[in-house]
Order: sequence, then structure tokens, then C-alpha cells
Amino acid sequence: MAKEFSLLILPGDGIGPEIMAEARRVVDWLRTNRDLNFTVHDGLVGGAAYDVYGKPLSHETLELAKQVDAVLLGAVGGPKWDGVDYDKRPEAGLLILRKELELFANLRPAICFDALVDASSLKADLVSGLDIMIVRELTGGVYFGEPRGIEDLGNGQRRGVNTQVYTTSEIHRIAHVAFDMAAKRDGRVTSSEKANVMESGLLWREEVTRVAEDYPEIALDHMLADSCAMQLVRAPKQFDVIVTDNLFGDMLSDVAAMLTGSLGMLPSAALGVKGGSAMYEPVHGSAPDIAGEGIANPIATILSLAMALRYTFDCGVEAQLIEDAVQGVLAGGLRTADIMQPGKAKVSTSVMGDSILRALDSLNK
Ligand code: IPM
Ligand code: MG
Repeated sequence: MAKEFSLLILPGDGIGPEIMAEARRVVDWLRTNRDLNFTVHDGLVGGAAYDVYGKPLSHETLELAKQVDAVLLGAVGGPKWDGVDYDKRPEAGLLILRKELELFANLRPAICFDALVDASSLKADLVSGLDIMIVRELTGGVYFGEPRGIEDLGNGQRRGVNTQVYTTSEIHRIAHVAFDMAAKRDGRVTSSEKANVMESGLLWREEVTRVAEDYPEIALDHMLADSCAMQLVRAPKQFDVIVTDNLFGDMLSDVAAMLTGSLGMLPSAALGVKGGSAMYEPVHGSAPDIAGEGIANPIATILSLAMALRYTFDCGVEAQLIEDAVQGVLAGGLRTADIMQPGKAKVSTSVMGDSILRALDSLNK
């Protein structure tokens, strides 16, 4: 019997629609070839939604996002909306989804594909075989803390305020995700904060240490976030799971992503409580500079769909098929512009999509 799933597709802005078109073809392929019956809903988010509704996420789209099994999102933002107020900017649509769906755990794997070791800006031996999982807290910290805002001090001066804030329970739940993840991997967690200057960082360190008592088989160490950034480019393979707050996680995951050759390769999952909502999206942004040219890399979005299959739909076999297909296409020498290397064949977004579908066909025989 076919398995039934519901998926909300939100392509967003910039290259979002182009890369999502390729992921959508993979969804269709799964329907036809693997008996997975996806009901696909479509919606607008970010600037695309702002242009139509005057806000970056409509009430209807948010309600739909709450109802479906998973959301697959492209990317949001672009210079077109630079002048828009903060609460209506494209990025706010993403933040509302994260907050309202209570997606507190952001999993950002940084895996270096064998075929791409030479595309990294680091030496091949430093990144070959790299497999890091960044567990970023996603609904707290300075992104959401109050008070916030810009106030006029009336003397020609203004004051901008954001608040970094974490509670025990917020730290505990993300720490549990990290330790559970490490238990299925290499059994090591690095927790990263700035306990040397921030009370919220000290609390983070103390509470993660308390949670670690429940996981005697996991090795925990603590690393200041600046040092962690440095170690990520010095000796990245020392890490297994990195657990960190919303802001440091944003930065450290971009650093980790670049180790793998390109931001265009990396998927992510935003998860809440087990059985709750889930959202999957590429780590990269909307890349307005190349939008509409048909040259963007669709792999991160397609791998995000694979993550959805693994973490939400419990279809590990199909997730693996997609990952193997991507691996195969890269090994065959095809490259989008962002991962282009000498001697390889440069292909467009849609040709990369075609090739992944062909690889899926032959793996599925
Ligand atoms: C990310 C992005 C977002 C963030 C932006 C688009 C709001 O950089 O998902 O890493 O800062 O979380
Ligand atoms: Mg980011």
C-alpha cells in the first residue's frame, strides 16, 4: 500500500523557485517509482509573500504549515525588500515559521563529498571524510529576546538593543537533541558559547554539563565560540556534534558549510518535539545575484528533501537513494557553477536535476 504524506512547498525568493523546481521533480519521482504518495501544497514565503499579501507569511500559509507533515522551503530575502520594516521583511517569514511551529532544533550536517574534496578552500586532507553535525538552537537567544528595538535618545543619539536570553528548559531540550544525535554517531559533543563574557553562555555551559550526566557514554567538551570558529578551519575533523545557540550556530554553520566546498551542497532540518512539525531547507540563501539564470545548485534542496524522508517520513531507504544519486552524479564529473573544478563539466540547475533523476532511475533498478 502506498504511504501517504503531506508536504508544503515554499520556494521563497531569489534562486528559491529554480532549485525547488528540481526538488519537486524528485518528489514526483518518488511518487511514481517508490509508491510514496505525497500530497503537495504550495505557498508563498518571504519577499514573494510580501509582494502579494504585504507580509512575509500569510495566516493561511502558517496554518497550512502547522497541518502538514513537513515544510520544504527554498530561501528568502533579497535587495528588493531592503527598505521594508523588520517585522515585514522576508527573513521575518522564516523566523515566524520557526517560532510558531516550535522548531527549536536545527540540524545542519557538514559532509564533504569525496568528489568535492578539492573544491574546498581548505587542503584536501583536512576535509576529506569530514562529517560534522551542527545542532543549532533555533527559537531562542538574541534572535527572539526582549527587549529589542531602536530607540531615539533625543540628543541626536539612537540606541539599538537586542537581548541574548536562554532558560534552563530551552538549553536542556537542545542538549538532549545533541546527545541523542551523538549516540548514533561518534559519541562526541562539543558545546559552544561565550561563557567567558556572557552570563547566558555560562548558564548554557552549566546546563549542558548537567544534561551530560544522563549520557555517560558521550564525551562532552566545551569550546568558546570564537575558538570553535578557529578550530573549524584549523582541524575540522576533530568535531562530531557541535551544539550551540541560535546566533553562534548561524555563524558556525556557515563556516562549516564552506569546508565542504560550497554552501550550495548543504541541507538542514528544523525539528520540534517528536511527531510535531518539521521544516527542511538548504543552508544557503536566496543568492539574488544569480537568481533567474538557471545556474544555481539544486543539491542542497534535494538533500533537504532526503532529510525530510529520513527524519519525518521514516523512509531511510529513499533518503539513502537520493544521497547515493547525488554522490554518483558528482563522481561522474557534473558540477554547477558554485562547485566547478578544472576538468569537470559545468551544468545548469535543470541539467543537474535531470542527472540526479537519471541516477535515481538506475539505482532503483
Ligand atoms: C540561516 C539564515 C537565517 C538566519 C536568516 C535568513 C534569517 O541565515 O538560516 O542561517 O539567520 O537564521
Ligand atoms: Mg545563516
